Amino acid sequence: MLIRVPALVGLVLVVCFMNEQVIAQRPGINKDETKVPSFTLPELLKSNDGVFVETAEAWQAKRRLEVFDAMAKNVYGDVPKRKVNVDFKVISSWEIFNGAAIRKEVRIVFGDDPTNFATLLVTLPNTRSEVPCFLGYNFHGNHTTTDDPKVSITKSWVRNRESPSTTDNRANEEGRGTSASRWPCREIIDAGYGVATIYYGDVDPDIHDQFKNGIHPLFYEAGQTKPTKSEWGSIGAWAWALSRCLDYLEQDSGVDGKHVALIGHSRLGKTSLWAGASDERFWMTISNNSGCGGAALSRRKFGETVEVINRVFPHWFCDRFPEFDDRENDLPVDQHMLMALIAPRAVYVASATGDQWADPRGEYLSLYHSNAVFELFGDSPLQFKSPAADEPRRTQLRAYHLRTGKHDITAYDWEQYVQFGNLQLENSSAKPGVK
Ligand code: GCU
Repeated sequence: MLIRVPALVGLVLVVCFMNEQVIAQRPGINKDETKVPSFTLPELLKSNDGVFVETAEAWQAKRRLEVFDAMAKNVYGDVPKRKVNVDFKVISSWEIFNGAAIRKEVRIVFGDDPTNFATLLVTLPNTRSEVPCFLGYNFHGNHTTTDDPKVSITKSWVRNRESPSTTDNRANEEGRGTSASRWPCREIIDAGYGVATIYYGDVDPDIHDQFKNGIHPLFYEAGQTKPTKSEWGSIGAWAWALSRCLDYLEQDSGVDGKHVALIGHSRLGKTSLWAGASDERFWMTISNNSGCGGAALSRRKFGETVEVINRVFPHWFCDRFPEFDDRENDLPVDQHMLMALIAPRAVYVASATGDQWADPRGEYLSLYHSNAVFELFGDSPLQFKSPAADEPRRTQLRAYHLRTGKHDITAYDWEQYVQFGNLQLENSSAKPGVK
């Protein structure tokens, strides 16, 4: 019997997502704090030669590089060495909010084929000065983040949704504005920030096809057909493309390129953390409900585990990560190291009470367990006990909140991020919208 390839891929996807839902309720998944196994986290400050680093300089020059390398080789994968051309072109721009903001679409072409592009949607206050800017991926296309009829609709593969906003894995007009609550653009602009968003599927469609689509093939050496064992999966590729967005934003005269904050929800929060760890040009990194493979400590095995995530999403991480399925204690790293890699730049981790799958306590604890490195840079230590719901906790460089509600990114979350951004700017005596 002949099965057409698209039908087969569709079937695999349906099974994957059924699997995702079934697993969320599966009895074997621990959601009981008393059943969290005891564990010892890998030492942050102990270098591979056994010597403890004691200063910020030694962390930066020595230990940070080791931790980054271990995180890349075992979890997210290395970026391949091959160089790929990336070009930017502003293809349209117009005013919105009665002239209070300027919006533009920037085409980012990867490699030499002009049809291989992603579209960055940039919205900036119309102030003629450089502003700090949030940068983050969206899940279903730029047009879903706003009702604005001028925003173009991606032609890339999109995940089918139950609503009529997608047809045969293509986005359509019905989806316009359907994720607008996640992108409170007017409030962000009024607070003096810009906001740039890009559809993650324009960079690499979130479907496991053995890395034939998306940007991975551009990096293959002659004869190579998929990333090597320690090379990047999809999260690595998405993170790399965020750096390319920053390359553009640094050139945009309306953006203060030294104050670009990464923001991401869920799998895209995992991505923003890895991007923030990988590229020290990013100012602030925000992880919203990122969970396993993001902010949550893997060794807690609470909610989603390493084994589950690798089984359900085999394309997200590098091929070495599954070697640690049900063997978290053997991992040379854990996610507190991801937080530490962001120091001394600011990091914000947010959880939701109704999102036990992402392990809110484990998300807080990885921030807590990054104390040793942040303290080297003069940050105050976080305390062990998690804060109560809706009571954000901040040090100078780190922040956390547990929002009441479900797995989502809401106006409340954004309010906290903007406030934290303002505090960072005050500390560095820069103000939004002022050079
Ligand atoms: C699934 C997955 C999570 C992920 C989430 C999302 O629930 O198990 O790891 O964070 O999808 O991205 O929405």
